Amino acid sequence: MAINYNERIPNNVDLADNRRLQRALEAWQPEFLSWWHELGPEGTKNFDIYLRTAISVEPDGWAHYDFVKMPDYRWGIFVNPEEAGKKISFGEHKGEDVWQEVPGEYRSTLRRLIVTQGDTEPASVEQQRMLGLTCPSLYDLRNIFQVNVEEGRHLWAMVYLLHAYFGRDGREEAEAMLERHSGDPDKPRILGAFNEKTPDWLSFFMFTYFTDRDGKYQLASLAESGFDPLARTCQFMLTEEGHHMFIGETGVGRVIQRTCEVMNELRTDDPERVRAAGAVDMPTLQKFMNFHFSVSLDLFGQETSTNAANYFNQSLKGRFQETMIEDDHRLLEGTSPVHVVKGDEIVLEEQPALNTVNERLREEYIKDCQRGMTRWNRNVKRAGIDFQFRLPHRAFNRRIGNFADVRVSPKGKILSEAEWTRRHGEWLPDEEDRAFVQSLMKRVVEPGKIASWVAPPSRGINHEDPSSFEYVRFS
Ligand SMILES: [Fe+2]
Ligand SMILES: [Fe+2]
Repeated sequence: MAINYNERIPNNVDLADNRRLQRALEAWQPEFLSWWHELGPEGTKNFDIYLRTAISVEPDGWAHYDFVKMPDYRWGIFVNPEEAGKKISFGEHKGEDVWQEVPGEYRSTLRRLIVTQGDTEPASVEQQRMLGLTCPSLYDLRNIFQVNVEEGRHLWAMVYLLHAYFGRDGREEAEAMLERHSGDPDKPRILGAFNEKTPDWLSFFMFTYFTDRDGKYQLASLAESGFDPLARTCQFMLTEEGHHMFIGETGVGRVIQRTCEVMNELRTDDPERVRAAGAVDMPTLQKFMNFHFSVSLDLFGQETSTNAANYFNQSLKGRFQETMIEDDHRLLEGTSPVHVVKGDEIVLEEQPALNTVNERLREEYIKDCQRGMTRWNRNVKRAGIDFQFRLPHRAFNRRIGNFADVRVSPKGKILSEAEWTRRHGEWLPDEEDRAFVQSLMKRVVEPGKIASWVAPPSRGINHEDPSSFEYVRFS
């Protein structure tokens, strides 16, 4: 399934054989491009950027690296191939053939799932659009563009499904994807985290670590769907998503590394002295982690959810690596534990397993977040610094679910409103912290140079030497 790049819309879905669909998508294409001009990365016209482009959906050799003049990136539609004899792996349709068309009874539910996922993709591009102006290095500038063009492609992936399988409703939803905007008071993006600002590069690295990782788990559970075109589309998106999280983990890791270097050079753990030396102090890094982790946890939805139970039961959205789980894949019996508020305590309560699908996905996510954090902590220890980062309790700073109405400390203690008011500045970035981080954001674009607050990458993109390679050429 090589991708045909000679067509106006590169694709591996035989678009040329379906004239109506092709025309519809070709009519949406200029709308996408004008959205990109207006709300995509600011001031990038004519930049020549070293980008990867998908050229097949084969696990090895799918990516091609070369310079692309903005905005001539070829956004396309790439779907993993059909697997002969594939069966649905969970829910009430378990064991039946996967669906290549939308079952009538699930039409509106599937449309909602696709629209909710699709809406996040252009939202993150909008959130990050000013960051190119303050990039810490050419390497980082290239990376943010890579993320942006691929989030744009993920929008194409969802819009393709809407156009191809949902008729007129789908076309209208595709239009609406470009009408809602991140942070717009009248027409906001659907999910809260995607209406927050990404005002600086520390936030960008945190976002790609914590929030793109939510994307990974959402895509992974949609990749199990009985609606096979959705499953195959999400499988390929996951391939691209890996690099976004790599940028997050190495980005935050490089900030931590630089902080450790400064602390060792100055022989200090005084945050003020670290700041004065142009690095981000450890407590501020911890606060940013607390913020991005808690906001991302909300994206998994209610702990106990009949919507999620229905999606699962209807074989529309599975669990993370569904087929690797050893159970009946129906969840009609049995219970599993959920954190709930009881009086002034948070306790575990057994609930029907089917209703806890969101919480199980959140749990996988938390474990995954912890893995990268353990790697960061190992490097801090190796640098001889006495500090360890911690993920806050899952109930901390939540807006959705069982803890939306209580105040909880990072250690999981329920607090009075007064205590929260007094102490939340210790746990979440306040205006002064954000202003400090903002003050570090200065544009560095000479090849091999890097800003004061972040260490250089240990290796380059596609084996190119990060200490000299010109990842972006300006003209
Ligand atoms: Fe994405
Ligand atoms: Fe992403």
